[in-house]
Amino acid sequence: MEIHTDIYLGDSKDQLARLAVDSVDLIVTSPPYADQRKDTYGGIHHDKYVEWFLPISGQLLRVLKPTGTFILNIKEKVVDGERSTYVMELIIAMRKQGWLWTEEFIWHKKNSYPGKWPNRFRDSWERLLQFNKNRHFNMYQEEVMVPMGDWAKARLKKLSDTDKIRDTSKVGSGFGKNISNWIDRGKAYPTNVLHLATECNNKNHSAAFPEELPEWFIKLFTKRLDTVLDPFMGSGTTLMVANKMQRHSIGIDIVPEYCDMVKQQLRPIELYLL
Ligand SMILES: C[S@@+](CC[C@H](N)C(=O)[O-])C[C@H]1O[C@@H](n2cnc3c(N)ncnc32)[C@H](O)[C@@H]1O
Repeated sequence: MEIHTDIYLGDSKDQLARLAVDSVDLIVTSPPYADQRKDTYGGIHHDKYVEWFLPISGQLLRVLKPTGTFILNIKEKVVDGERSTYVMELIIAMRKQGWLWTEEFIWHKKNSYPGKWPNRFRDSWERLLQFNKNRHFNMYQEEVMVPMGDWAKARLKKLSDTDKIRDTSKVGSGFGKNISNWIDRGKAYPTNVLHLATECNNKNHSAAFPEELPEWFIKLFTKRLDTVLDPFMGSGTTLMVANKMQRHSIGIDIVPEYCDMVKQQLRPIELYLL
């Protein structure tokens, strides 16, 4: 069985035009954040970020299948003592562009560096925004279930009366819970918070994903032989993981060295799978 990997060198805005309409099952990506890492690959001013990103998200909307999902890793920085609002402005602009903003996951960076700031604490999380084209999209929740663990031992030992019947949601969501249903079950669904360490040292890139991050979303939103795209691939973490999980992958980066590096690293994996 052959797993395809396509790597394109250039600006995503232009390169994405080469991909077919409705051809991608999952997009997982971390674009440069506003004004960040200027020395490495050029920052975009936070006032110009939405204007810069919209042509790219327009192309992503075109190439994503109607059943597909787009996961965008992003975090607003502090400008003049205030959090910049460009991420919020981007969400609103993307909704106008035709995207549904379906969910927001939090990446809790378990090992972020300690530090001291006069008016804030250590930043240890980033946003993982989920966008879709439709309300009904492919999602394989059983693939990311977690062991019940200690929560079950402590919580299920002392069931209250409301725990034993279906308890109508107090927030009017229409969903209730019957906690006793979970007795004797080995696994539960996870929350929308991902507790993952950051990863920089063992990759030739200053802002690489930990492998578990694309892995979790690839499990949740794709099946074997589906296609995963990272339009800002950097060191190619998304592509490597997709490849190992037997998904086709497409990567784009504007820096030639990253494209060469990813091609070199992917070669042995591709040969192994052929
Ligand atoms: C935050 S890094 C991605 C890191 C990646 N997730 C990894 O695991 O290594 C963003 C990448 O986007 C690339 N980039 C910046 N502007 C771009 C553009 N207009 N088109 C394509 N790639 C771009 C940079 O070269 C950089 O490698």
